[in-house]
Amino acid sequence: MIELKNITKTFRGKGSFENRLHDIHAVRNVSLSVGEGDIFGVIGFSGAGKSTLVRCINLLERPDEGEVIINGEDLMKLSRNDLRLTRKKIGMVFQHFNLFRSRTVAGNIAFPIKYDWQPDGTAGRRASRPAVEKRVTELLDMVGLVEKTNAYPSQLSGGQKQRVGIARALASNPSILLCDEATSALDPQTAQSILALLKELNRKLGITIVIITHEMQVIKSICGHAAVMDSGEIVEQGSVFDIFSNPQKQITRDFTATTSHLNKINDLLAEDTPLTRLRSNQILARFSYSGPNTVDALISTASLRFNVKLNIIFGDLDIIQEKPIGGLIVILEGEKDALEKTMEWFRGKGVLVEVLKHG
Ligand SMILES: Nc1ncnc2c1ncn2[C@@H]1O[C@H](COP(=O)(O)OP(=O)(O)O)[C@@H](O)[C@H]1O
Ligand SMILES: [Mg+2]
Repeated sequence: MIELKNITKTFRGKGSFENRLHDIHAVRNVSLSVGEGDIFGVIGFSGAGKSTLVRCINLLERPDEGEVIINGEDLMKLSRNDLRLTRKKIGMVFQHFNLFRSRTVAGNIAFPIKYDWQPDGTAGRRASRPAVEKRVTELLDMVGLVEKTNAYPSQLSGGQKQRVGIARALASNPSILLCDEATSALDPQTAQSILALLKELNRKLGITIVIITHEMQVIKSICGHAAVMDSGEIVEQGSVFDIFSNPQKQITRDFTATTSHLNKINDLLAEDTPLTRLRSNQILARFSYSGPNTVDALISTASLRFNVKLNIIFGDLDIIQEKPIGGLIVILEGEKDALEKTMEWFRGKGVLVEVLKHG
């Protein structure tokens, strides 16, 4: 369980505008709580304060104000030695992997184990060589990279490098994994495979994961809860299903829109393509729905009931947290009165109907 209470972090006099120094308010009064075993995403544009916020969780960045409570313990109040021990329970994964280039895969992963790893989490003697080797193999097996044990980072693909980064972060058996843009340097397919790995680790190990990203697809793929960050503040947070099905803020709507094809319709309308040229008895509309509504069944019912034609131009249906969510772009054709009644009927069934264009 991670609890941040009213975290503020200001970089004093670090910015400059017209040659005058000014403070940068990287994180402003942020509170959030991440449940045990959750995958929690923080999304925002570059400069929003995400990295600063996530670095406050393990006090790599010490907040000016606020409380950082991990499993009931306020990290701000710990002695240096206690903080060092608590930090071992918090692994971290970076966008650019941060591997030692002169060490092999095994050497990179062994590094934190050799000097720090104690099975009971206490400080003490160096781990023995066989114990280290056993643990390294275990970790490489977990991330599916045993065959690269003796390779050097330069001999690995980006996705493989990140697997090493994840294995290293897991070396001390942490209960929390912080990922700062862990998939941002990877191509989309590799990014998906790393996200799948994180999800699997979350499920198998019960590890709590905090993911920082500027890509909504990452949130959609694996997170249970998410927060939207803008100019140092959290402007919206909730379950990922709620965020996608009912975004409250414009910035959240903009982010969710990036993961849907439905916005193509705006381009098509602007270009005035044949697809969007309507006859006088037609209406172009967007139907958005989520949860239990199965709109295809509603469409055939409505068509018969109101004697209208419903022509689906395209659609985008997704499953988020095991619930369907999506939308359709539809041309409705029929008598004016029947069209109005049809749209009212859909609204009554919990479908959001927006008219995009009248014929
Ligand atoms: N160590 C630092 N010193 C001065 N300014 C910083 C430092 N780290 C971050 N910042 C500034 O804080 C703001 C938030 O940065 P950051 O947390 O890295 O955002 P994000 O990760 O969302 O891109 C930015 O304006 C950035 O320039
Ligand atoms: Mg960042």
